[in-house]
Amino acid sequence: MATAQEQMDVLIRSRYSILYVVSWEEDRVEKTLAEIAKRQEKKLFTWAITRGFIETGEGQSDPSTTDPLRALDFVMESDDSALFALLDFDPFLDDPVVERKLRDVAHALKASYKTLVIVSPVLKIPDHLEKDFTVIDYKLPGLEELGAQLDGIIAQVADNPNIKIELDEQGREHIVKAALGLTLSEAENVFAKALVTNSRLDMGDVEIVLAEKEQIIRKSGILEFYSAEEQFAEIGGLDSLKDWLKKRGKAFTEAAREFGLPEPKGCLLIGVQGCGKSLSAKAVAGLWKLPLLRLDVGSVFGGVVGSSEQNMRRAIRLSESIAPCILWLDELEKGFAGTQSSSFSDAGTTARVFGSFITWLQEKTVPVFVIATANDVTALPPELMRKGRFDEIFFVDLPSAPEREDIFRIHLTKRHRDADSFDLEALARASAGFSGAEIEQAVISALYDAFDQDRKLTQEDLLNNLHNTVPLSETRKEDIDALREWAQNRARAASVHAVEEVATGRKIEL
Ligand SMILES: Nc1ncnc2c1ncn2[C@@H]1O[C@H](COP(=O)(O)OP(=O)(O)O)[C@@H](O)[C@H]1O
Ligand SMILES: [Mg+2]
Repeated sequence: MATAQEQMDVLIRSRYSILYVVSWEEDRVEKTLAEIAKRQEKKLFTWAITRGFIETGEGQSDPSTTDPLRALDFVMESDDSALFALLDFDPFLDDPVVERKLRDVAHALKASYKTLVIVSPVLKIPDHLEKDFTVIDYKLPGLEELGAQLDGIIAQVADNPNIKIELDEQGREHIVKAALGLTLSEAENVFAKALVTNSRLDMGDVEIVLAEKEQIIRKSGILEFYSAEEQFAEIGGLDSLKDWLKKRGKAFTEAAREFGLPEPKGCLLIGVQGCGKSLSAKAVAGLWKLPLLRLDVGSVFGGVVGSSEQNMRRAIRLSESIAPCILWLDELEKGFAGTQSSSFSDAGTTARVFGSFITWLQEKTVPVFVIATANDVTALPPELMRKGRFDEIFFVDLPSAPEREDIFRIHLTKRHRDADSFDLEALARASAGFSGAEIEQAVISALYDAFDQDRKLTQEDLLNNLHNTVPLSETRKEDIDALREWAQNRARAASVHAVEEVATGRKIEL
C-alpha cells in the first residue's frame, strides 16, 4: 500500500480539491506538503487561526486572513498554483456559512492548480461535504523513519566527548522498536532524554523509551496500563474458560506460528454480573505475562462526535505498538448505551467507530489479544457475535455448587482464614443463586460482624449474611433467564457444571 505521502502526491496531481489529513503531527505533515510542493513546483501556504496565511519560506503572514471565511476567499482569489494547508480548521466546519463556502471552493479548485489541505487530529466531516473531502489517514512513523530520527540525534552529538554511544545494531533496533506508536516529535524527545540521562546511549535506554510510551498511553485518556495483581488461581470455577485460556498462553510465540497455529484474536465473555468476567481478563494477563491495556469503552465508542474515530485509531495503534499484549474492553455495552438519545454522541458515529474496530479485529495480524466483556447482550450490535470476529464467545453463568465452594475457599483464604475449618458444602448450599461478587461481599460482611464483636469468624456469621442477602439472581430473574436463553446456542459455557433452577427460584446443582 502507498504511504500517506505518496497518496497525497497522487491525489494532488489528479486534482482532488480538498484533502483532509488526520494526524497529530502538523510538523511532519507540513514537511511532506513542502516536499510535494517543491516537486510539483507549487507554492505552499499555511493557515492558522492566530496568524492567517503565511507562505512557506517567505515569513510574511497575512493577518487579514485570520477569519476562516476570509481565508477561504484568499484561496479562491489566489491565482497561483499552490497548496493551502489549514491547521486547526475543524472547529469551523460546523458553521453553515463555512460549509457552503467550502463547497464553492471544492468546485472552483477543480479548474485550478490549487489544493486545499485540512490538517487535524480530529476527523470531522459535515454530511454535506462528505463527497468533496478525501480523507488521508496519516500513519505514525514506522521503523525506518524512527531509525533515521535516532541516527540524526546520534550524529548531532558525535563530536561531543562527554556523551558515549554504546549501541550495536541490535541495540539500536530495540530502541527504535520501543518507540513505535509515538509521533515523530514524541520520539525525538524521548531519544534526547535517553541520551541525556547518564550521558550515554545504550541498550538500557530501551526502558526509558518504554516508560515514556507508558506515560503517553496514560495521557491519551483512552487506554490505561493495568498492572494486574490478580492471579489465575483466584478464579473459582469457570474451568472451560480457564482451560481455553491456558492453552493459548504460548500462542503468541514464533514456535506457535511455525507449528501452524493462527494468531489468537481474542474472546468475548458475556454473562451475569459479578461472576468473574473482569476478574478473568485481569488474571489472564498475569498468566500469560503480557501487558494489559484497558480501553475506556465509554469514551471511545460513545465519546464526543468526531474525536471518537480518532481515539479508536490511536488506541489501536498504541496497542499494536506494544504487542504482544492484551487489549481489554470491559463492559462493552456501555459504548452503545444511549446512542439514540445522548447529546454527546450519535448512532452514526458509534456505528462507524464500531465498524472500524470490527474490521481491525477481523483482519489484524499483530499479536494483540482482545478480551471483551459484557453483562447485557441486548445493547450489543449483533455483528459482534458473528463467527470469525472472536475466536470464542463464552457465557459466564452464576456459579454452580462446587464452584461456589471454590469461591468461598478463595475468598476465605485471601483473608487469612483456614478454609478447611468451615463447612464449605453447607455454605455452597446456602448461597444458591449467588454470584462470585455476592459471595465475596458475604464473606466481608461476616468478617465485619466478627471483628465488631471481637471474636473469631464463624460458620454462623457467614450463613447469617447469606440469609440476609437477596441475590441479584432473584431481583433480576427475568434478565438472567433471558440472557441464558440467548446464550444457549450462541455461546460456549465457561463452566463445566450447569446450574439448575428449582421451584423456589433458587438455583441448585443437579
Ligand atoms: N468466579 C469467581 N471466583 C472468585 N471470585 C469471584 C468470581 N466471580 C466474581 N468474583 C469476585 O467478585 C469480584 C467482581 O467480579 P467481576 O469479575 O468484576 O465480575 P463481572 O463478571 O461482572 O466482571 C471479583 O473481583 C472477585 O473478587
Ligand atoms: Mg466486570
